[in-house]
Amino acid sequence: MQQHSIGILDSGLGGLSVLREIRALLPNENLHYIADSAWCPYGPRSFEEIIQRTSFLSDHLIHHGAKAIVIACNSATIAAIGSLRATYPLPFVGMEPAVKPAAAHTKTGTIGVLATEASLAGEKFHRLVSSHASGVRVITRPCPEFVELVEAGILDGPKAQAAVKFHIDSLLAEGADVLVLGCSHYPFLRPLIERAAGENIEVIDTGSPVSKRLKGILETENLISAENADSKVIIQTTGDLAHLKNLLPTLCPGLDAEVSAFE
Ligand code: DGL
Repeated sequence: MQQHSIGILDSGLGGLSVLREIRALLPNENLHYIADSAWCPYGPRSFEEIIQRTSFLSDHLIHHGAKAIVIACNSATIAAIGSLRATYPLPFVGMEPAVKPAAAHTKTGTIGVLATEASLAGEKFHRLVSSHASGVRVITRPCPEFVELVEAGILDGPKAQAAVKFHIDSLLAEGADVLVLGCSHYPFLRPLIERAAGENIEVIDTGSPVSKRLKGILETENLISAENADSKVIIQTTGDLAHLKNLLPTLCPGLDAEVSAFE
């Protein structure tokens, strides 16, 4: 396995929305992604379970040469990043729902945050709201069906459209004019979400800020790779390998990756 990679992990395929941003911004880095689809969803799991699982996956990534790890999952960040940072000596980059920019952009004074139950239940999320959105009405909405749709590769069609419309209509009815995609799976449904929301509604996700944050940390820590035309992307799944191979061209068009089963 490759030395000196960026480890990336998610409960499943959602974090590939972050991987594609990292690949575009840091093309010289080897990337090693684990899709924990066998354990998906993390959303309804306890923090203890998520900490235990992400520690296990981090051990694997470090063993195979990770120099930094991106937790490309809001739920795992909120539940586990404090514990991971306290346990391991390498940098961990996490992701959280983009409440701060949403609160700064709203004109109606109401924002909608779509995320998992685990993300919304965390003390970290409540702190995020009280520090950055105290004067704003924050409507939260878990959308577990979105995760199921993306894991199944259903990114459009009647079933996906109905699920998206159900959640977006109710947030708009509450007056939200900015929607936060607070789960790394949701950007794959972004075209449907934007269509359901209409052009006056702003939709924000965190894949691009996470990749910029990672770049900043690699530079500061002197970990950034020099020009490397042979950089590789390895993607492993704890779930169904054939399913991942089928879906990858849809989720990450044009991505050249070695895909294998996690073992
Ligand atoms: N992709 C994960 C996140 O960003 C969660 C999906 C799940 O429930 O496993 O929160």
